[in-house]
Amino acid sequence: MKKITVPYIQTMKDNGEKISALTAYEFLFATLLDQAGLDIILVGDSGSMVFNGNETTLPLTMDEAIYHCKAVRRGVSHALFVADMPFLSYQVNTDQAMLNAGRFFKEVQVDAVKLEGGEPVLETVHKIVQAGMPVMGHLGLTPQSIRQFGGYGVRAKNADAAEQLIKDAIGLEQAGAFAMVLEKIPAALAKEVSEKLTIPTIGIGAGAGCDGQILVTQDMLGLFEEFKPKFVRQYMDLAVDVKKALQQYSQDVKDGSFPNADESY
Ligand code: KIV
Repeated sequence: MKKITVPYIQTMKDNGEKISALTAYEFLFATLLDQAGLDIILVGDSGSMVFNGNETTLPLTMDEAIYHCKAVRRGVSHALFVADMPFLSYQVNTDQAMLNAGRFFKEVQVDAVKLEGGEPVLETVHKIVQAGMPVMGHLGLTPQSIRQFGGYGVRAKNADAAEQLIKDAIGLEQAGAFAMVLEKIPAALAKEVSEKLTIPTIGIGAGAGCDGQILVTQDMLGLFEEFKPKFVRQYMDLAVDVKKALQQYSQDVKDGSFPNADESY
């Protein structure tokens, strides 16, 4: 399979080819995603919740993000490999942001980093890109600001917020971002942004008008049971199947039917 690069992601938009993306936090799933032919694998800071069991994405540290990226790196040879920059790894100042972005490229050989926000991060995005490190933006519901939003509701629903989002999206493109995630915004607004921008948009809860789609893998496989947003299409009920298998194993051990003669030396 061909290695997906940042310029190739642009070619996909130019050719009207949709971009498929999912998240991974460790080697095994990364391998499955890569073998399944996903275009982009994101080591999302959502790993703070679905992998590490935190209530929000905020606690994830740089060292933890690098740890997850190293595991995923070993499983990815085809997909574009994007690393999420953790909360406070890029907001304090541009120098710190560049050094932290650089860690993902030096220590893990990622293809790109992703960071959240519009106007306040434009200079940072520009500097990171100027240093040769591709950046994916993230607008709409930005989970690192969840304390400010107070919840996971749909963003940019009124005219002023929609106008600001469009400005932010154009700003990110001008700052050099190669793509951006649009999370949980009205479908019509996401379509308008996608048509206005030259670079691709990757939607999550943002309707069919985006140039690509991303979901958290554990959500679409039915593994993460804490909450189920309506935008998640669940392709499996894996938590139920896994629990059944685990209970059966436990029962087999307890009633002595495991291991049998074939499973013994
Ligand atoms: O952290 C994450 O997984 C994300 C995607 C869902 C876009 O930011």
